[in-house]
Amino acid sequence: MSKPRLEGKVALITGAASGIGEASARLFAENGACVVVADMEDESGHQVVASIGSERVSYRHCDVRDEKQVEETVKFTIEKYGSLDILFSNAGIMGPLTNLLDLDMEGLDNTMATNVRGVAATMKHAARAMVDKKIRGSIICTTSVAACLGGAGPHAYTASKHALIGLARSACSELGVYGIRVNCISPFGVATPLSCKAYHLEPSEVEANSCGLANLKGIVLKARHVAEAALFLASDEAAYVSGHNLVVDGGFTVVSQSNFSGFSEGY
Ligand SMILES: NC(=O)c1ccc[n+]([C@@H]2O[C@H](COP(=O)([O-])OP(=O)(O)OC[C@H]3O[C@@H](n4cnc5c(N)ncnc54)[C@H](O)[C@@H]3O)[C@@H](O)[C@H]2O)c1
Repeated sequence: MSKPRLEGKVALITGAASGIGEASARLFAENGACVVVADMEDESGHQVVASIGSERVSYRHCDVRDEKQVEETVKFTIEKYGSLDILFSNAGIMGPLTNLLDLDMEGLDNTMATNVRGVAATMKHAARAMVDKKIRGSIICTTSVAACLGGAGPHAYTASKHALIGLARSACSELGVYGIRVNCISPFGVATPLSCKAYHLEPSEVEANSCGLANLKGIVLKARHVAEAALFLASDEAAYVSGHNLVVDGGFTVVSQSNFSGFSEGY
């Protein structure tokens, strides 16, 4: 049997009470990591930890908009498990769906506070701990196909996810000297509460939408696929990968929907 890919590593995952973060917490734990499941939904967070059922996995309340809570969560992780090798800064919200002419400015502020400021705070405190302890860590943040294109999400969300690509590249430029890698993952539509609630869709409708638009056919994008990408970036298999945006979209962002090539026609 091959060695678990994260054996001996400690991971902090934000937004881990649900969806992509939850799937990643399960996969990281299966691969030998100690995991802190951080979220503001305490009941769901405790349920995730209980269902994984390992002493290597704990829950910690953390609203990423509150820097003090982020700092305390990083401290908790180090006190509990003795290290912080992986930050998966994944918590995010969809924000307002309003069109630009009616843009909800408070909603935009909250989206930025969660999706950008929150990620920046987690990077700041995790990187401080890694530098302090001379840990050659891995920092990953969840962006979106909306970080690669306009029109693939609401305005505030799109702006926030584009900003994350810049933040990750900028962090990468500073942290490389310490051996810390910084990368992004940009998933296409996954059926999670975030996508289903925002658009009032059933999980099967979100999946059908992604299946219809992705170039890659015969596969349904699941949170687990995104978690697998995070596992790669977290592991030593990605030891020389930094500043990268790993797009998990079945070719959605690189293949024209107009399909001028005519390949689907068979000529
Ligand atoms: N589902 C998709 O289609 C999709 C596609 C691309 C990117 N993403 C991104 O993936 C990430 C995870 O989303 P998901 O789809 O798993 O959604 P989800 O709703 O299942 O999970 C998001 C989690 O983040 C938590 N959260 C929200 N605000 C928080 C805050 N201020 N502090 C701490 N936790 C907070 C929520 O409580 C929830 O548990 C997000 O950053 C999202 O933008 C999702």
